[in-house]
Amino acid sequence: STIENGNFEWSAPSNIALVKYWGKKDNQIPANPSVSFTLNNCKTITKLAFSKKENQESFSFDLLFEGKPKEDFKPKIQKFLERVEVYLPFLKDYHFTIDTQNTFPHSSGIASSASGMAALAMNFMSLERKLNPEMTDDYFYQKASFLARLGSGSACRSVKGEMVVWGNQANIEGSSDLFGVEYPYAIHDNFKNYQDTILLVDKGEKQVSSTVGHDLMHNHPYAERRFAQAHENLDKLIAIFENGNLDEFIKVVESEALTLHAMMMTSMPYYILMKPNTLQIINAIWKFRQETQIPVCFTLDAGANVHVLYPENVTEKVLQFIQDELVVFCQNRQYICDKIGSGALLI
Ligand code: PMV
Repeated sequence: STIENGNFEWSAPSNIALVKYWGKKDNQIPANPSVSFTLNNCKTITKLAFSKKENQESFSFDLLFEGKPKEDFKPKIQKFLERVEVYLPFLKDYHFTIDTQNTFPHSSGIASSASGMAALAMNFMSLERKLNPEMTDDYFYQKASFLARLGSGSACRSVKGEMVVWGNQANIEGSSDLFGVEYPYAIHDNFKNYQDTILLVDKGEKQVSSTVGHDLMHNHPYAERRFAQAHENLDKLIAIFENGNLDEFIKVVESEALTLHAMMMTSMPYYILMKPNTLQIINAIWKFRQETQIPVCFTLDAGANVHVLYPENVTEKVLQFIQDELVVFCQNRQYICDKIGSGALLI
């Protein structure tokens, strides 16, 4: 090609699943469909510089994290490049410098793989578009999500906002195992600017990598029932998103979080990823909800941190509650205020 060098910069947000992806088949195909809120504040910002090189036999790239060389992420990126090369045949023509930073604190226990892989995929798509300028925007975003999925499954839900479905669900038009799609149906105003305050309970390294975690669903005694339940819960959410029934929303979302952890507790080997403070927080949220009737609930990822979800109109009361009663359960009293957001952005 004729493009010698240049650079792009993209930001991509993290996302929080409402119906969880847990278990996969070969080639990053999910065992069940999932749906997530795209976040707004927790983002990865990645700059990709590229220059034409002579030797086209292998990949060549430098990796910087917050401006400093970062060797330990290199194998993950190398593996990603190997996986996507068939879809981006120009990758060996260039030397890349990948310079990345997160807006959330380093090793906060917030997974940066979704936002990181999405930001990288957007940059590579920008280069592809530079080489083939005729592509449509739909193709651009769909392929970016497809590539992000090959980096980290949940990353395919970080390309677009505000709600993204990934995985084939018969009654959701356009849904696919290969990429995430914007939720295509009516969304009630109750979900507008939905808030997510992330309580940092344990900032330590993940006990179980998601690769190992997904594998635990192979030969899991409850796998088949769980995968069917994910379809049922997504189906319930279609009605809930339309009618705005927050009591029903809470039931689905909290059950999904606890089921994710139940799967880990009932696999072989088995894990408990919640900490005592995770349970303290859950109990405090239940008590507060019962006493105030404020529709606040929790969800969890594969770790001890708690995402506190609530509609915008109760923000002040919930933040007061968090400060008064929940920050004592957080490491260094740390939490991050986030909300539903709109997806990746070219900077
Ligand atoms: O994208 P992965 O392979 O890191 O898997 C993430 C799985 C969960 O975060 C636990 C659930 C989800 O759907 O995001």
